[in-house]
Amino acid sequence: MVLAWAAIVVSSAVLPVDDLGMRSAALYLHLIFVPVGFGAVVMMHVYLVLWRTGRQRQREVLALTSVAHKLMAAGLAGLTATGIALDPDLSSPLMRMKLVLLLVLMLNAVRVQQSLRRMVGPVVVSQIAWWGTIGIGYLITTAR
Ligand code: HEM
Repeated sequence: MVLAWAAIVVSSAVLPVDDLGMRSAALYLHLIFVPVGFGAVVMMHVYLVLWRTGRQRQREVLALTSVAHKLMAAGLAGLTATGIALDPDLSSPLMRMKLVLLLVLMLNAVRVQQSLRRMVGPVVVSQIAWWGTIGIGYLITTAR
């Protein structure tokens, strides 16, 4: 987790990139990090639903959650680092909304660590924020 955030700090000092080839590479990596982070979240949420409906044991859910949490952190760190490389237009309301949703995701991830029992709320917030950032990313690209 610490390493992932260190990567963001380092990359923000080196980036954004001007070269077109490097920009495509950054966009490629940006899109790779979506399934890394969101995939972990979806898996975690499926396990939570199975646990709440009595089809999975709490021990297994906790084991999966601890691994999924690290993947999610790596995904968000990668998305932020590559997002900075893509030179975001911070004057765009859509991009600002996307960054607010990113902040919601990060704060929500901290809440998730606190207790499994109170996870239903964070799950809903997390799903809305992930779909929101993915949708806004698509809207920004297609609006060009
Ligand atoms: C949960 C976090 C994020 C998700 C799920 C996400 C998702 C996406 C998606 C799906 C696209 C569309 C790519 C395409 O269709 O070509 C995109 C584009 C983009 N994202 Fe993100 N993103 C996230 C975080 C960020 C952050 C933190 C930044 C900036 C610091 C950022 C900056 C950008 C930029 C600038 C583009 C436009 C690239 C272009 O078309 O030139 N993203 N993102």
